[in-house]
Amino acid sequence: MSEELEELRQEIKQLRETNTNLEQQIIKITAERDSGRQNAADESDAATKLRMDNVALKLKVTNLQQQLNSPLSSTAGLKVAQRLQGKLSSLFEQAVSASKQLADNSSQRLKDITQKYLKEAMLRKELYNKLQELRGNIRVFCRVRRDDRGESILQFPSKSELVVPKLQGGKETLEFDRAFGPNASQEEVFEDTKPIVMSCVDGYNVCIMAYGQTGSGKTFTMMGPDNNPGVNPRAIKELFDALCITKRSSILARLNVSTPEDLLQFIEIGNQHRSTGATKMNTDSSRSHLLLQIKVQGFNTITRATTYGKLTLVDLAGSERVSKTEASGDRLVEAAAINKSLTNLGQVFRALASGSPHIPYRNSKLTHLLQDSLGGDAKVAMFVNTSPLESNLSETSMTLSFGQNIRKVELGPAKRNTGPPRPKDALKRKPK
Ligand SMILES: Nc1ncnc2c1ncn2[C@@H]1O[C@H](COP(=O)(O)OP(=O)(O)O)[C@@H](O)[C@H]1O
Ligand SMILES: [Mg+2]
Repeated sequence: MSEELEELRQEIKQLRETNTNLEQQIIKITAERDSGRQNAADESDAATKLRMDNVALKLKVTNLQQQLNSPLSSTAGLKVAQRLQGKLSSLFEQAVSASKQLADNSSQRLKDITQKYLKEAMLRKELYNKLQELRGNIRVFCRVRRDDRGESILQFPSKSELVVPKLQGGKETLEFDRAFGPNASQEEVFEDTKPIVMSCVDGYNVCIMAYGQTGSGKTFTMMGPDNNPGVNPRAIKELFDALCITKRSSILARLNVSTPEDLLQFIEIGNQHRSTGATKMNTDSSRSHLLLQIKVQGFNTITRATTYGKLTLVDLAGSERVSKTEASGDRLVEAAAINKSLTNLGQVFRALASGSPHIPYRNSKLTHLLQDSLGGDAKVAMFVNTSPLESNLSETSMTLSFGQNIRKVELGPAKRNTGPPRPKDALKRKPK
């Protein structure tokens, strides 16, 4: 009898351990479920019910144990013990099955939801890419900076139109893919740029550029101040957020980075090394182009295909004519080179627009570097930045007509760079 009682005690002890174990499992599964992208109330109800069942079972076990510990006469004791054992094992089975059900439900739902989410994200991307192919693969955005020093001479009758005074008198209306006025926020600007940026995850080469005279807001648009970030930091953040399976990001100097902060710091270093000559026009004038190139390797968990895309972010040097800056010596030579590269950029777009078999990519370092991001299989967003002030009208007109010319380019449907599907276990392997 006492032996049997001892056995029963051991079993209760075991049962208690199992119960603790089950509890932990439930906590884990609940946490997993909560981290999933869903808010299914029914499941949460089920989890609560199962959790309550578990508590109830635990209470019963405690209760039974108390009965067992109370003094018993030998035969009656044995009977009680047998009955208790039966009850305990049935309770134990119930607890196990309840926990198992919870685990199955949660992980299956989590799987379903993740799958659904991925499918929808893919569909959205595909629709966007189709839309963009229909509209051609070059977007030209005009952005007129805010300038509190004077009145704006430009008007914005719609989201895509800009009314500008003509040098010879009168006014003309120009159309862009978007025309951002002086009050457009960085968020608004990025909203329209983001889908283009993100298509590099799908394996497209993407180039975002800012063109305009010094002081027109190129750096503000691309980099932006710390407290009001522009396209670059936002793009980098989006990329890091989106690429849960990011393999590698290498930029210009083939520097490997693993966080957006590293990458931004690297841009900062690049910025400090930019030659900033004190030209007469603006002491902060950036007399060089700043290129940031990010290679993005994506892996589609549904189609199991690897994509190779590239994002190039370019803050071009000021487009103002050399004479205006009255540079001399080294500065003049530098200015001439800048003018040549910008002129050549225009020529490349013109050649693309006319469908010429020869595109003069190699005529300048800039277009050479951008070759695979400006051609037929790339997506381009060009910001033409201008001042709103009358005193800059002549440069503004030149900048706007540069933008209008680029708008005429039809790149044709962009091509993806996609690798062959990988075997299923490849996911677990570390990227090379
Ligand atoms: N959209 C804007 N809103 C407010 N300030 C702007 C805007 N664009 C440019 N600025 C300001 O104008 C100045 C010149 O802009 P910047 O981006 O440096 O020109 P760029 O790079 O073309 O030479 C900076 O002080 C910048 O903060
Ligand atoms: Mg600048």
